[in-house]
Amino acid sequence: MAFKALLIDKTDGGFTRTVVMREESELPAGDLLIDVKYSSLNYKDALSATGNPGVTRKFPHTPGIDVAGVVLHSESSAFRPGDEVVAIGFDIGMNTPGGFGQRVRIPAQWAVPLPHGLSLHESMILGTAGFTAALCIDKLERAGMRKDNGPILVTGATGGVGSVAVALLARLGYEVAALTGKADQAAFLTTLGAGQILPRETLLEVGNRPLLKEQWGGVVDTVGGEILFNAVKSLRYGCSLAACGLVASPNIPATVFPFILRHVNLLGVDSVELPLAQKEAIWRKLSNAWKLEGLAALEHRLSFATLSNAIDRILAGNMVGRGVLDLSS
Ligand SMILES: NC(=O)c1ccc[n+]([C@@H]2O[C@H](COP(=O)([O-])OP(=O)(O)OC[C@H]3O[C@@H](n4cnc5c(N)ncnc54)[C@H](OP(=O)(O)O)[C@@H]3O)[C@@H](O)[C@H]2O)c1
Repeated sequence: MAFKALLIDKTDGGFTRTVVMREESELPAGDLLIDVKYSSLNYKDALSATGNPGVTRKFPHTPGIDVAGVVLHSESSAFRPGDEVVAIGFDIGMNTPGGFGQRVRIPAQWAVPLPHGLSLHESMILGTAGFTAALCIDKLERAGMRKDNGPILVTGATGGVGSVAVALLARLGYEVAALTGKADQAAFLTTLGAGQILPRETLLEVGNRPLLKEQWGGVVDTVGGEILFNAVKSLRYGCSLAACGLVASPNIPATVFPFILRHVNLLGVDSVELPLAQKEAIWRKLSNAWKLEGLAALEHRLSFATLSNAIDRILAGNMVGRGVLDLSS
């Protein structure tokens, strides 16, 4: 059967983006064929769409690391036709055709049943970005983050991971400080639950001192680079930073001083290869104890017609909240 997909192709002049009709027979082998209802736009999809070899090496290609849909055909005993499923990460949208097409065929081990308490649509308002925000908070709590240790800083606060992190932390009762480059989004961040809004320069123009004033009871960092390490330098004694992103830089200008003088921790967070059982545990939290009311406040609805423009916006750092692709558009 033919289906609609965004296709990225490599040409002499660069990478093209076209909405085309494809055939199910063009999809790779796999035991689950899924009718994709929703996907979402993550920074990594924009890297794939612009030919970043660290994400996608084979073209033509359909990005989309997030998939929410209905099983059409299953060769696995774990799923039956008609089941609603969510699949994020692993190789989806990297070198396996992803959720920016109306059909995907993937191994059953990459999918989880839609968690009770979330609709397919809500699962994609969260998507990889929201899942990763929850994974950061879960890891910080396992490392001892507590509400009475001081405010929790979120960097890149208006972005996908950042905005869900602000909302989740506020929902869980933490005091939240949001670091942002978008002064005009203060009302959005306040609505999500940020108590303090700090301009990005707060963690850029701080000089070369080995330590900064102790402020944060924890940090969710989505940007990397200088901001990440200045946030480490301003953690309170014994507290932790969860690092998941690199939009500012993959390089960290670091010394050992915060670690050996303040007993702080730098925690790594990866949503992609996280074992399926741990993925299911985070989805259970997001659909129950950590369920966010008012998810719609985070959403920008995208269609095949507006997707390419949104890819340019996220690459330029101008995205606010979460772009959700409605595949029926
Ligand atoms: N480890 C994982 O498993 C995992 C999973 C998901 C995402 N990620 C990574 O997390 C990062 C964020 O992803 P996303 O989907 O949330 O992207 P996004 O929606 O584009 O959000 C990134 C935000 O960072 C801020 N920003 C952009 N450029 C910046 C710069 N040069 N310096 C400082 N801040 C900047 C902007 O927010 P403000 O204007 O508010 O500052 C932007 O909205 C990406 O690097 C992505 O690859 C990793």
